[in-house]
Amino acid sequence: DNHFVVLGIETSCDDTAAAVVRSNGEILSQVVSSQADLLTKYGGVAPKMAEEAHSQVIDQVVQEALDNAYMTEKDLTAVAVTIGPGLSLCLRVLPWNAQQFFLHYAVGVQKARQIAGSFKLPIIGIHHMEAHALVARLTEKDLQFPFIALLISGGHNLLILARDLGQYVQLGTTIDDAIGEAYDKTAKWLGLDLRRSGGPAIEELAKEGNAKSVSFSVPMKQHKDCNFSYAGLKTQVRLAIESKKMYDMGYGLFCSDANIPISSASKEDRLARADIAAAFQRIAVLHLEERCERAIQWALKMEPSIRHLIISGGVASNHYVRSRLDMVVKKNGLQLVCPPPRLCTDNGVMVAWTGIEHFRMGRYDPPPPAEEPENFV
Ligand code: KG4
Ligand code: ZN
Repeated sequence: DNHFVVLGIETSCDDTAAAVVRSNGEILSQVVSSQADLLTKYGGVAPKMAEEAHSQVIDQVVQEALDNAYMTEKDLTAVAVTIGPGLSLCLRVLPWNAQQFFLHYAVGVQKARQIAGSFKLPIIGIHHMEAHALVARLTEKDLQFPFIALLISGGHNLLILARDLGQYVQLGTTIDDAIGEAYDKTAKWLGLDLRRSGGPAIEELAKEGNAKSVSFSVPMKQHKDCNFSYAGLKTQVRLAIESKKMYDMGYGLFCSDANIPISSASKEDRLARADIAAAFQRIAVLHLEERCERAIQWALKMEPSIRHLIISGGVASNHYVRSRLDMVVKKNGLQLVCPPPRLCTDNGVMVAWTGIEHFRMGRYDPPPPAEEPENFV
């Protein structure tokens, strides 16, 4: 393998990320700019704001990624960019913006096309979820196809059998919300500090709580498949928070108003919130465990040579999730692979790496024109 270098750009949700990666898996640089203050202000991702925030920082993020790798565009072999799925405003692959009535590419795609056009570089369109899965092959050199992937993030909850590059069989998906969405809403309702995303805040608070003190039911017990559902658990959590039952249990009227931030909660109130966080996390992850166990059985029937189950996506950076799934996977004779936390959450490295995998197989597009037609902006 004659080494080559790929720039990866990711702007599909609320992080603007870029990275430079060498084809041997060496990460030369990675930069992530997150929209933390926007998240607090709007209590979640607001697509139009996200798009504007991407356009404000994209040039700087890409420049920093190149500088940190001690490279210029001339040293690149190709540019890889996420083209879906994600917030449609942030990804728009169709060059059409109905609001402004002129042709318009998504922020990341536009930047990638500019660079590829001016420097005559091939361009590789990347599926965000494929990138989450394949980055595991960068961190674990021993990870061969076929393998199972559990991809858990804010917008997706997928179980797939990866048979080969580009050959994925969906074993299960969510019928409503993804687990990350449930973490984020639970964090919001519990009044946690949202300057960082909800997941890590719940993970931390849950350590103080007793997971068995509140009983939530495991979703989809009666469905003997590999699909997920988190809407019902979200409702259970909301009801528990609102419930006066907690009063009878001696908690008092704790966090009846979700607007009371946890920082100004009383000691008992904080503990009651921690109990809910712990109970929520236990059941949310139990649901993953059950589905993974079944997925392993299904997948081994199709591909008996499978040796690994990988987890990736933002929620896979959670230590409780990792340790629980490690038990399930080991019990079933496989090995768990999880990329380090900063490669689990959205990042440019996974995009660059997936670009490398595709480029090797000759799957890329020729350089776009150096100048887009006039009506493109
Ligand atoms: O993959 P990602 O960065 O973006 C999407 O593609 O959605 O995942 C973001 C999600 C958010 O819902 C966030 O709360 C969750 O991942 N997350 C976590 C943790 N870190 C991030 N959830 C649970 N525990 C964590 N430590
Ligand atoms: Zn993601």
